[in-house]
Amino acid sequence: MSNSDQSRVQTASLSPDKVMHKLVSLAKRRGFIFPSSEIYGGLSSCFDYGPLGSEMKKNIKDLWWHSMTRRHANIVGIDASIMMNPTVWEASGHVASFNDPMIDDRTTKRRYRADHLIENHIEKLRRDGKTEQAAKVQKAYEAVAEAPDANRALYELILAEAIKAPDTGSGDWTEVRQFNLMFQCAMGAVADTSNIVYLRPETAQGIFVNFHNVREASRMKVPFGIAQIGKAFRNEIVKGNFIFRMVEFEQMEMQYFVKPGTQIEAFEAWREERFNWYIDVLGINREKLHWYKHDKLAHYADLAYDIKFAFPFGIEEIEGIHSRTDFDLSQHQKYSGKNMEYIDQTTNERYIPYVVETSSGSDRLFLALLSDAYQEDVVDGEPRVMLKLSPRVAPVKAAVLPLMKKGEMGEKADRLRDDLSKSFLVQYDDAASIGKRYRRQDEIGTPFCFTVDHQSLEDNTITVRYRDSASQERIDMARAAEFLGAKLV
Ligand code: GAP
Repeated sequence: MSNSDQSRVQTASLSPDKVMHKLVSLAKRRGFIFPSSEIYGGLSSCFDYGPLGSEMKKNIKDLWWHSMTRRHANIVGIDASIMMNPTVWEASGHVASFNDPMIDDRTTKRRYRADHLIENHIEKLRRDGKTEQAAKVQKAYEAVAEAPDANRALYELILAEAIKAPDTGSGDWTEVRQFNLMFQCAMGAVADTSNIVYLRPETAQGIFVNFHNVREASRMKVPFGIAQIGKAFRNEIVKGNFIFRMVEFEQMEMQYFVKPGTQIEAFEAWREERFNWYIDVLGINREKLHWYKHDKLAHYADLAYDIKFAFPFGIEEIEGIHSRTDFDLSQHQKYSGKNMEYIDQTTNERYIPYVVETSSGSDRLFLALLSDAYQEDVVDGEPRVMLKLSPRVAPVKAAVLPLMKKGEMGEKADRLRDDLSKSFLVQYDDAASIGKRYRRQDEIGTPFCFTVDHQSLEDNTITVRYRDSASQERIDMARAAEFLGAKLV
């Protein structure tokens, strides 16, 4: 970008609390994300991806799939069914313990996470400088895990601290109860407990139960991985923050099967690769990404980290990387009665492989990308909104803009659009001034605009206008597809 270009673009300052509001409204107005079944008043935490949103989400999933499967000769993909034999969820531990401790307010009929109420209370005490009391409550909270009746202990702590509901100020509490997050449905004509099936709360179990099928069919040798993208469902009580926490969402998970004893080495390699993927492939700003190491591990894990992203509402998880030991395969061996061992053909060793899991959510990632990309600036004295998305992620790769829609100029632009459409999603726009058309494209993150103008009629060149700098250059029209292809590798 030249100095004169820089002076044409000035970044406006943006208050973070307003960004979410702006994102939600842009997402709806431009067809990225709509509230689900909106004409009936919507459904809490359910959303639909519109024409641009579904393209962008597909780009995210394609980039993940390409990086995980095509770029690794020892990783293959599957697409398992959402409903599975219900014993799967007994074996995995989800029936017994995929629970959140919930508490109800009798007066307002609202439901809350009991643990969140206490954590927020401790946080508030700290903010108010009541450090001694905060430490005392923290200690009591930590002791809950060891209590013979953890629900009772949570309830008593809430009463002892006179904790009120954050939104209503009411505190007419019921006892604390464990609430299972899995959605149940009945399969077949009779609705009784014998035919309960669950909507899967994670895609991972579809991979574990197919361990031998995939290994045999694809002649895989440990270490190898199985990748999957698919819907997961959780009856989340605490919802909100747009598509950050949904009841129906999509996961992109990979289970990497390794020899016991080699899991930490594999874990570290995946940790590095996954973190760099967000920066190198998706173009997310490095300073918005954070590591979080789990000190309290799930009973089956021997190491766990989260990759977190600085959303406008706080730093939150977008991907979990877990060393899950041999827990899942051992459990499926126990509950199915099928041997889950792997036999190393060269050494004749037999073992149940350990698993390193990378588990990311495409909806959360979508929101991370939108909020990372959202910018307001001033170009040539005019304010504009821009999504500074990487060309790989942007839904529309280029816009074709004829200066005049009729005659030879329009015909040339038509031909250019037809040619580019063979390989890329492009938009054709011949309505309104060229400045307005540029801004329409900036707002949806289109990285390049090709303008067909008077000079195009003389020498078959077109203007390329770059979204980020608003700078322009001329290229041969015949080279437009090659130009775009080079920007997308
Ligand atoms: N198999 C491991 C597993 O499911 P998780 O940390 O519960 O781990 C992995 O979920 C990822 O799935 C999260 O990092 C997040 O991106 C996404 N995810 C989980 N719950 C979600 C929800 N309610 N809404 C949107 N995304 C969610």
